Amino acid sequence: MQTLRSVRVLGTGMYVPPDVYTNKDLEKMMDTTDEWIVQRSGIRERRFAKPGIGVSDLAAEAAQHAMAAAGVQAKDIDAIIFATLSPDYYFPGSGVFLQQLLGCGQIPAFDLRNQCSGFLYGLSTAKAFISSGQYDRILLVGAECHSRAINLTTAGRDVAVLFGDGAGAVVLGPSTDAKRGILSVHLHSDGAHKDALKLEYPSMRQWPAITHQMIEDGKHFPFMDGRHVFKHAVTRMPEVVHEALAHHQLQADDVALYVFHQANLRINESVLKHLAQPMSKTHNNIERFGNCSAASIPMVLDECARAGRMQAGDLVCMASFGAGFTWGSALLRW
Ligand code: ACO
Repeated sequence: MQTLRSVRVLGTGMYVPPDVYTNKDLEKMMDTTDEWIVQRSGIRERRFAKPGIGVSDLAAEAAQHAMAAAGVQAKDIDAIIFATLSPDYYFPGSGVFLQQLLGCGQIPAFDLRNQCSGFLYGLSTAKAFISSGQYDRILLVGAECHSRAINLTTAGRDVAVLFGDGAGAVVLGPSTDAKRGILSVHLHSDGAHKDALKLEYPSMRQWPAITHQMIEDGKHFPFMDGRHVFKHAVTRMPEVVHEALAHHQLQADDVALYVFHQANLRINESVLKHLAQPMSKTHNNIERFGNCSAASIPMVLDECARAGRMQAGDLVCMASFGAGFTWGSALLRW
């Protein structure tokens, strides 16, 4: 029987566009207040990319940092997995944009559309490819250009104040130390809640896919039942962390660092409370970048890696929850 290889993160990177939009800036665009946004979400500012910049441009910057940290070059990458819900084009996917931008060979490149859980779904996919021996070096990116599809007026304020643009990337490869690497990834979905958080139009279920009237009604912007999402997030995230820990007969106390999706600071505080863990065991950047969906986890991971938050062998636990609903957790020995 073939022996599966351990898979580890060889390098991390992140990039955010330079233009900062504070809550005060949003106050000028819609009926909202800095106080409302901070109290509800913890967000103080976010970045929006300039028109003409696509999600693959942000991803390419993050990827360059991750490849430099891993000590590899574009020619060394065997496959690209691109997690995003805000691709450059409807098709082809942003994976091929990134392949071209980086100057990789004619390697496989594909998009993975699982919203805020996209990075963890990508991690699981990359782990399977590498552990089986199919590929040696995979570039996994999570990147979003949310600013393109949010309604920055009072009509869209419930969603618009939460999201930002950014990219995070990791290079993954086989681990020479069997004790270090990704221990497991646990993934879930429940389509019963697909309409609680969605961007429906243009819809390929409809003919025409979008009308002038739909645009006038703002149907091309995301819809979110915020309370419904919040309620499920604070239940599912601790549940899936416990699932991962139980699988390895580990305890919440054994984890050195929790890396959570950045949807809402209150969600992450609640998850740690459920786990009876102190806030010092996590790192949040939502205050500075807002919710960057698929990019959030790799962005937090990169900030932690560069700040030296993880020592070799430390147990790191990641968890996410997002549209679909989809959710998941990953445990790794750094
Ligand atoms: N500024 C000021 N007032 C606002 C704003 C705003 N930006 N947005 C909404 N309001 C108003 C509402 O209209 C409402 O007014 P009303 O009481 O007169 O009707 C009031 O504020 C309260 O609104 P609620 O929705 O009850 O506020 P809540 O406390 O639930 O917080 C929030 C809203 C922050 C969205 C919260 O529900 C949340 O964080 N939900 C989860 C978000 C999330 O996790 N998303 C998933 C990830 S994204 C992904 O997967 C793509």
